[in-house]
Amino acid sequence: MSQANNCIISQYLNKERIKLYTVLRPAQVESSTLTESAPDTTSAEKIVFYHAEQGKPLATPWQIALTRSKMINDSSLGKGIIVDCACGSGIQLAAHALILQRAALGIELEPRRALASAVNLQTVALSARQQDSQRMTETRVLCGDGRDGKAALKTLQNDLNLQQMPEIALLHLDPARPRNSRSHGLDEMAPRLDEIFTGWAPYLSQGKRGPSLLLDLSPRLSHQQRLQVEEMVDSVWPQIDRTWIWTSRGRGRVDRLALWLGSISIPNVARRFVRIPPNLQEEPLIIDGGEPISAGDGVPVKSRRPPRKGERVSLLDAALVESGLAEVWLKKVTKSEAIHWGVVEGRRPQIHHDHPLQLEYKNHLLVQATGKIVALAHTNLTLDDVDALVKIALEHDIRKLTVRVSLEPTLQPKVQGAIDRQLASRHGKRTAFVVQQPGDEMLLLCILE
Ligand SMILES: C[S@@+](CC[C@H](N)C(=O)[O-])C[C@H]1O[C@@H](n2cnc3c(N)ncnc32)[C@H](O)[C@@H]1O
Repeated sequence: MSQANNCIISQYLNKERIKLYTVLRPAQVESSTLTESAPDTTSAEKIVFYHAEQGKPLATPWQIALTRSKMINDSSLGKGIIVDCACGSGIQLAAHALILQRAALGIELEPRRALASAVNLQTVALSARQQDSQRMTETRVLCGDGRDGKAALKTLQNDLNLQQMPEIALLHLDPARPRNSRSHGLDEMAPRLDEIFTGWAPYLSQGKRGPSLLLDLSPRLSHQQRLQVEEMVDSVWPQIDRTWIWTSRGRGRVDRLALWLGSISIPNVARRFVRIPPNLQEEPLIIDGGEPISAGDGVPVKSRRPPRKGERVSLLDAALVESGLAEVWLKKVTKSEAIHWGVVEGRRPQIHHDHPLQLEYKNHLLVQATGKIVALAHTNLTLDDVDALVKIALEHDIRKLTVRVSLEPTLQPKVQGAIDRQLASRHGKRTAFVVQQPGDEMLLLCILE
């Protein structure tokens, strides 16, 4: 790192070892030695963030970072600073510091990424014209190992010339995990949760409901692994309040799965689903409720019944179903009617019900398609079946028919194209979709509602 960045090598001596950190002062750093930068497409202002050593895919998109920080109730936090002990490009840390208006401490093992973090903290402060604020003059990024809370805090204390070690209002942890694998073990997280808990627990200040920790975990964690995370938490903070939060930006994908602990947990809320709308300026849709995860994964049980003409079919957001909050949500958008789950897993969870869904506010964001069955076609869906299907569609005055059946990826566009071409030359008026229940040969044509 260059001299221009005013780095200071600090050391903290204890009996066993000497810890070395490079201290970066975000209020003063400059970006000239960094080359990887990109405008964040999720930020309304297209803020340009720096990354290093391929840190971009690890970084939290600004919109998610900001939405999360805004959900924190500052008044329930204890005294002190915000710490991110594996801060990567520092994007989440910058959002927390901006929204909570507190000084921050980021720690990052990878030197160039630590520098990127410091620059990004500065960029965010500049965008709010807070580059000279007290919180920024007290904000630091340390390059080194984030597992030793005492060493890091001593370094900060020395650098800021404080009488006492700073207290921590919120500890954020977003560990690195193996990429390109669908699943991974808890011990593959870097740094590991248990190491962070032991290294930092003594320094967390008490808020209204204990200390505050935000654990940013992989959405790929299995239910069993989530339970193991809870066990690890309980071994350090028994019975601490907790809220699991699934965040999605759409397309049925869980972008983030996080565990909010202690004073930042949402009072009496075991699970929260946050759908971030496509319009960057809009507020998210939030669904709260459900059972603690110790009571089960909350995924509904299949309860198929033979489909009938006139009933409704809805394809729900797969991320909502994964969060275990689909049934809580359905109570809000139906008149408590019986729901039959035709499909619970995969990309197109499917329910059958008698009345239309009431999709006021932003609830339509949680539905891929909803409609009324007008025809049951006893056929498969190959290119050879398209003529027969189009004939039925025309009998029902259909102008546009979207295929929502799981087909081979190469077949899907061909079938959809053939349907579109044939319907384009006719004069139907209605918009529809076609679905299937796994194991059935029957196609269900539904008019969109
Ligand atoms: C997923 S990234 C964090 C991204 C960050 N939340 C953001 O918004 O940019 C995890 C980071 O932890 C760092 N890391 C891994 N082990 C560490 C350790 N022992 N101490 C400090 N940082 C560590 C990795 O280098 C990586 O940059």
